[in-house]
Amino acid sequence: MNSSLFAYETKKDALQSLLPKFSEQSRTLVNQVLEDPQFSGRISPSAAEALAKSERTTVDGIMLGLLPLAQSYARPPISNFFVGVVVQGASGSLYLGYNIEIPGQCLGFSVHAEQSALSNAYMHSELSVASLAVVGGAPCGHCRQFMEEISPAGEINLLIPNQPSASLASILPSAFGPAALGASHGALPVEKRNLVLASGASDPFIAAALDAACRSYAPYSKSLAGVAIRTSSGRIFQGCYIENVAFNPSLSPLQTALVPFIAAGQPYSAISAVTLVEVGGSKISQRSVTETVLSALVPQIKLDVIPAHIRS
Ligand code: THU
Ligand code: ZN
Repeated sequence: MNSSLFAYETKKDALQSLLPKFSEQSRTLVNQVLEDPQFSGRISPSAAEALAKSERTTVDGIMLGLLPLAQSYARPPISNFFVGVVVQGASGSLYLGYNIEIPGQCLGFSVHAEQSALSNAYMHSELSVASLAVVGGAPCGHCRQFMEEISPAGEINLLIPNQPSASLASILPSAFGPAALGASHGALPVEKRNLVLASGASDPFIAAALDAACRSYAPYSKSLAGVAIRTSSGRIFQGCYIENVAFNPSLSPLQTALVPFIAAGQPYSAISAVTLVEVGGSKISQRSVTETVLSALVPQIKLDVIPAHIRS
């Protein structure tokens, strides 16, 4: 697929071509969800149920049906390979995910579609993830490892078009889980930490970055971090740092912030400011990776970094 959802003349035309098997009524429902000015990649439980009823199928069937929509949000300028994911959280909400590649940068900065959908579920404070549907191939090893952190019991149900469903535990035997580094549980449910800014100063934009840092997951480095992106129209998107026991599949907070930003249909050129809040004096810092990714997307924007500390 080469065309993004927003290249079409109207969203309705786009939906007709992305979801040709859906009825007109179902496409109208999807359109209402996407037209919500606050849309950030989440489909509410009631909208998911309404779609299942309208299509006379299950929510699993709707997740599979929505995959081409998720895929249309992918931004893969390097591979041109579009991957789409739909995740269902314990609340019944659905989350879209799509791969994101950073132009001109290290391939390791890419966000896989599975990571994108799971980080979206994380940032919406899902208590757990029930299932994950994917189009574009089965989840790679890196994604299976990322899923393990979200569900160390291996309970996520995997849905792949035209294949029998399978649990995470069955596709990732002998997993290297959080317990290997002494953690007693995984990334969910989200734990909110009490961080305060070293400077004490704050405004709603900095407060959003601080809140993302408070909700970040860093059990291995203890280096809690969060990002807020502000657009030229004043919208704010948050991203939480999400660590992984195997380290490399971890997502930096700017990577996770790009997920809702892209769901909202924002072009990178709309980024007007980015703030990183992180615990000062930690073992690691997100500063250099955030500056590098930001300079690849919007070279004129300078990152603001604000240190925080855990309130004792
Ligand atoms: N990709 C995914 O999104 N998920 C996978 O599990 C396999 C690979 C993406 C990463 C990269 O953007 C592109 O597909 C080529 O590997
Ligand atoms: Zn992957």
